Amino acid sequence: MSNIDTILGEGLAALAATADPVELENVKARYLGKSGALTELLKQLGALPPEEKRTQGAVINQAKQAFEAALNARRDAIASAQLEQQLAAEALDVSLPGRGHGTGGLHPVNLVKERIVALFQSIGFDVAEGPEIESDWYNFEALNIPKDHPARAMQDTFYVEGGEAGQPPVLRTHTSPIQIRYMQDHKPPIKIVAPGRVYRVDSDATHSPMFHQMEGLWIAEGVSFADLKATVTDWLRNFFERDDLQVRFRPSFFPFTEPSAEVDVLGERGWLEVGGCGMVHPNVLRNVGIDPETYSGFAFGFGLDRFAMLYYGVNDLRLFFENDLTFLRQFR
Ligand code: PHE
Repeated sequence: MSNIDTILGEGLAALAATADPVELENVKARYLGKSGALTELLKQLGALPPEEKRTQGAVINQAKQAFEAALNARRDAIASAQLEQQLAAEALDVSLPGRGHGTGGLHPVNLVKERIVALFQSIGFDVAEGPEIESDWYNFEALNIPKDHPARAMQDTFYVEGGEAGQPPVLRTHTSPIQIRYMQDHKPPIKIVAPGRVYRVDSDATHSPMFHQMEGLWIAEGVSFADLKATVTDWLRNFFERDDLQVRFRPSFFPFTEPSAEVDVLGERGWLEVGGCGMVHPNVLRNVGIDPETYSGFAFGFGLDRFAMLYYGVNDLRLFFENDLTFLRQFR
């Protein structure tokens, strides 16, 4: 019977050596298939005498059962090894930090602009805009600032190449040209605020060559300096959320308003200038075809960056324009 033991021993070794299901099924066929080694042994039983047939039969059946048990065990082992491998290959490392989507936020100057615009919209002002590259006429002449007038020196100007001879376009030095454009296109009553970027040759802790202003304009019949004071004072008190905020109108000069004033608010460190204002000059109204005998009104111009500095307690204007996220994230 050493023949049976040998065959079984080889069969078990062959099973143990298989590494995948196909190989395994081949080994199974070699031993249990139609002409497999163990099947052949069973076939030969018929030729033996009855006594031997019984004992031999039992021995062969034991060998067959041992082979089948090993076959099933090997099948399970291969299946779980494959599963292990698949799990390892598809593993998701949840400890890895995600790529994430950074949420953006508005720039502090924009936040303040939106706040101011909303306050004016709540009392019926519309919002107007205009180009940042302007002609000399819109930026100066229509605003009653003639060529060679000393008032031009108030605003150190960036000139742009192009335009007619002796009339180079400018980077607008203030938002006041938006007044002119709007009055050309609309009939009074006019009530607008006009925020935007403006440019002047200027740079230090409180001046940047690019900064932001917001113009205001109210033209109708019978608008007076009292309306100007009330509108501006109310707005400033609303903006700073202080009913007792002290606001001062200090006589000043602008070519496009008469009379003109600087607006100051009283802060912890004294009076602080926040903008200019005045009654729109009759010449300006005439330049856009509005009759100054019928209509009057006021205009104001405020620095939005200055308001952002005051509102958020920022002491250097340049911080707003360095794009340092550590700084900007604080305002989200
Ligand atoms: N445009 C002026 C400036 O930039 C401000 C201003 C606007 C003054 C409107 C009076 C009326 O200096």
